[in-house]
Amino acid sequence: MKKIKVALLGCTGLVGREFIRLLDDHPYFELSCLTASSRSANKTCAEALVIRETTAAEIIRSGARAVFSALPAAAAGPLEAELRAAGLRVFSNAGAHRLDGNVPLLIPEVNPGHLELARQQLRTHPGFIVTNPNCVVAGLALVLKPLTALGLRTVTVTTFQAVSGGGRRGVAAWDILGNVVPFIAGEEEKIVRETGKILGELAGGHVADSPIEIYPSCSRVPVREGHLQSVSAEFVRPVGGEEIKEALSGFAAEPQQLKLPTAPAQPIVVRGEEDRPQPSLDVQAGEPDPVVAGRHGRARGMAVSVGRLRPRGSRCDFFLLLHNTVRGAAGGSVLNAELAVRKGWIPEAAND
Ligand SMILES: NC(=O)c1ccc[n+]([C@@H]2O[C@H](COP(=O)([O-])OP(=O)(O)OC[C@H]3O[C@@H](n4cnc5c(N)ncnc54)[C@H](OP(=O)(O)O)[C@@H]3O)[C@@H](O)[C@H]2O)c1
Repeated sequence: MKKIKVALLGCTGLVGREFIRLLDDHPYFELSCLTASSRSANKTCAEALVIRETTAAEIIRSGARAVFSALPAAAAGPLEAELRAAGLRVFSNAGAHRLDGNVPLLIPEVNPGHLELARQQLRTHPGFIVTNPNCVVAGLALVLKPLTALGLRTVTVTTFQAVSGGGRRGVAAWDILGNVVPFIAGEEEKIVRETGKILGELAGGHVADSPIEIYPSCSRVPVREGHLQSVSAEFVRPVGGEEIKEALSGFAAEPQQLKLPTAPAQPIVVRGEEDRPQPSLDVQAGEPDPVVAGRHGRARGMAVSVGRLRPRGSRCDFFLLLHNTVRGAAGGSVLNAELAVRKGWIPEAAND
């Protein structure tokens, strides 16, 4: 197929850098425009592309048909809407549009049907915006999805979030070295609202939030990459360890069936050791199936690891770990765009 020209906004950030790696020699996309703030303008980046200042005019002039946005939410909100109005397909990591009623908040393994909202946007806008969730939610909702079939009712989650989750200038070294900060502004609210939307039902053009109750407590820990989460799941009936393990490790969905380039062959890896998953050992989980991933091993960091499964009556406790800037950000966004390409919603012809 002819490659689709894409722009990357926020290319110098922690998420931007992962995008550059994932888009290198991508079978569907060709990076044709890189942007950042005026501080980085005119420096060079991937394959010697010159970084442009982030303006709608620069992006439109580049001929890109789709945009990956790794901007802070305040900058992303109005710009993404402007790019949609110019007919571009916007795949955003930022929080600005995640809860808009007509914007899909997508994890392709969990709610691929919600991508239909993007097609609905095309009835009233020349382009569309598709978002991926907050980095905690990207792992949590993926693991909760197969558990919903077992009668999941309530989830209590405590997070141990890596420093990289706050971006390049996020947390001062002095505040986090040898420390744990038991608060991340706005994070617990995002976990409740975004998980509710992703696990919700799309009917009549609207998503009705899932009734599963979520009780989060978030903390920042001195870890470089990887958000660990301690989860306690309550079900409507007693559950066994084997059925939970089977539901998680046997879970596969549309990205695996379609063999999307960034899809891990097994999205949830269940570990049997008593002391896993650990960020330093497991953050890069994601089987680089040679058929799916090619020589780049694109699925690295795209699988979520689960361990220490402890069923007790109608409750099961476990830990999960995801790579926050890969599955929780750039990789999730690229997977969303790959699904949109396979649905035919990013026209190749417009590349000309
Ligand atoms: N880090 C994560 O784990 C994670 C996970 C999920 C979602 N996200 C979301 O992804 C986005 C990027 O996060 P990040 O961690 O990569 O942040 P980051 O490291 O701070 O990078 C921000 C990027 O945006 C550019 N930028 C900043 N202000 C700008 C402005 N006013 N106009 C144009 N460009 C501007 C920066 O350019 P300069 O280098 O020139 O300043 C940089 O390229 C955020 O919306 C974040 O919430 C992050």
